[in-house]
Amino acid sequence: MSNASLDDLLGRMGATPHITVLTGAGVSAASGVPTFRGDGSLWKNYRAEDLATPSAFARDPRLVWEWYDWRRQVVAMCQPNRAHDVIARWSHRYGDFHLVTQNVDGLHERVDTWGVLRFHGSVWEVSCWRGCDDAPTRWWDDTAPFPSLPPHCPHCGGILRPGVVWFGESIDPLVLEESVAAARCDVFFVIGTSAVVHPAASLVEIARDHGAFTVEVNTEPTPVSGMVDLVLQGAAEDVLDLIEQRLG
Ligand code: APR
Repeated sequence: MSNASLDDLLGRMGATPHITVLTGAGVSAASGVPTFRGDGSLWKNYRAEDLATPSAFARDPRLVWEWYDWRRQVVAMCQPNRAHDVIARWSHRYGDFHLVTQNVDGLHERVDTWGVLRFHGSVWEVSCWRGCDDAPTRWWDDTAPFPSLPPHCPHCGGILRPGVVWFGESIDPLVLEESVAAARCDVFFVIGTSAVVHPAASLVEIARDHGAFTVEVNTEPTPVSGMVDLVLQGAAEDVLDLIEQRLG
């Protein structure tokens, strides 16, 4: 970690800039939420890409729901960590601040982070798989575990699906538009994401092309490491704590 560059970052953050943070599963790793790739990410030998698709759900909704039901129970037991805490503080301190999160666990919201853009939806929301006319598009349901799987739509009796964005599905157009606008900022952090899933990872390029000072925080190098202005290699909970201490 270069001190000069860290000082440069701190200087930019002190000048009341427009700050945007993009987070991924690494931010919740210290809370005990399993990441999607790397060690310990398989569930019953399935990868996220095997389960988080409309075709996987159509083929075996019970199996996909078992995974989500398990994840909801895991997350319900987890507590936000120092990284969530620091980001929440920034969201209240900086007048022009945005958090775009790929995380569906709701931990940023649990520490009262202002203005979270949930790029991939929420594991705590559900919707009717058939899209029945009587049901809202999506609604909150924090039952964990569900008494039987798959859970049923209270409006039509069909099956429910998790309120997340699966591979092959589009990002909510409004969330995408707001996230792209947020990426056009002064300081852009990309924290705890493998940066292989698009369009989320493309936000880094949008920020860079806009002229933002771009910073990556990750325990490992990623495809965006070579394109950012500053790489702070380390655990998000430690690096953000250090930045916050240095900001005073
Ligand atoms: N601090 C910072 N980074 C960490 C930490 C930590 N404590 N622990 C792990 N990491 C990093 C890993 O090095 C990795 O680069 O977090 C990243 C986690 O990557 P993924 O598991 O691929 O998670 P993410 O990037 O959020 O995945 C993107 O893929 O399956 C989909 O929709 C799902 O939103 C998810 C998307």
